Amino acid sequence: MYAALRSVGAYVPKKILTNADLEKMVDTSDEWIFKRTGIRERHICENDEFTSDMGVKAAELAIERSGLEKEEIDMIVCATISPDYFCMPSTAAIISNKLGLNTVTAFDISAACTGFVYVLEVARAYIESGMKKNVLVIGSEKLSAITDFTDRTTCVLFGDGAGAAVLSATEDKSEAIIDVHTAADGSYGDFLMTPVGGTGNAHLSEFEKEASYIKMRGNETFKVAVRTLTKDVVQILEKNKIEKSEITHFIPHQANYRIIKAVGDALKLDEEQVVLTVHKYGNTSGASIPMAMNDLYENGKLKKGDLMLLDAFGGGLTWGSALVPFAGKK
Ligand code: ACO
Repeated sequence: MYAALRSVGAYVPKKILTNADLEKMVDTSDEWIFKRTGIRERHICENDEFTSDMGVKAAELAIERSGLEKEEIDMIVCATISPDYFCMPSTAAIISNKLGLNTVTAFDISAACTGFVYVLEVARAYIESGMKKNVLVIGSEKLSAITDFTDRTTCVLFGDGAGAAVLSATEDKSEAIIDVHTAADGSYGDFLMTPVGGTGNAHLSEFEKEASYIKMRGNETFKVAVRTLTKDVVQILEKNKIEKSEITHFIPHQANYRIIKAVGDALKLDEEQVVLTVHKYGNTSGASIPMAMNDLYENGKLKKGDLMLLDAFGGGLTWGSALVPFAGKK
């Protein structure tokens, strides 16, 4: 049995925060943000809109496009670092309830911006082992809730949004996910972290709100990201004997245009192979890859049989890549 990616869906909140808006909030400029990151604007949730709400909307679209009945879904895995609740219930469990799927296996995965590659790997393993047949995978992030909007080094980078995909069992090898690779190196944990809020800081005498926001050693993270991602995508292509010309769409995690360009250049990919959405959504962490896949789909550019090369890098530090043909509706 193989795992096929049948459909995608995405959702972004209505409210848009532009670089011009940020100029009024911190000492920054549209020129700096665009030149250093490629970002022009990002979408931000209202206070009463949660990670699970966005995940549900993306999931409903993905299910509708999959050719499956909702009741055929037997597992939900959600990639998020901005869950509705930090310990429990999981965002996947909340989503399962909102979808009316109250008996499925549901759990979250925390791998920051690499989250979607991790959930793909987990879903693929469950399907290939025969344990599950149809898995809904989601990346949903309300990063605005864990962003310090007085810190110019991070608040210009992040946005909110969700993406989802439905994977299902197939005997047809031509539809199958070819490979997924994931990794983590916890020795770089302090490059990107939310220092307070978990049991690691239970000894703190009082809750420090500011320390619960994202802190990032951006420049050092940037260098590790370019080095690691380039090596990772070269390896997955070599391992699977895939030529760069066979890749229809290179869909990297959308953190920074300069990282994407450096990796694309190292692989000598043509511009039309490289999918870019960072300018309009910013960095939506675990949601960025399925959101970019959905953009392609809704623009009529993601066709049955297209080969996608995914790659991501994020807090942990974590990284991963995947070779995924678009299988289309069942
Ligand atoms: N506006 C104006 N100036 C700024 C801003 C801002 N918003 N932010 C920083 N600066 C200043 C700095 O203070 C610094 O000034 P100085 O030279 O006087 O000290 C200068 O700009 C350069 O700062 P750097 O941090 O060196 O800028 P850099 O070119 O590295 O860009 C960025 C910063 C965009 C964060 C980049 O390093 C990056 O993209 N890093 C990787 C991010 C990433 O991939 N993260 C992983 C995924 S995220 C996740 O997992 C949740």
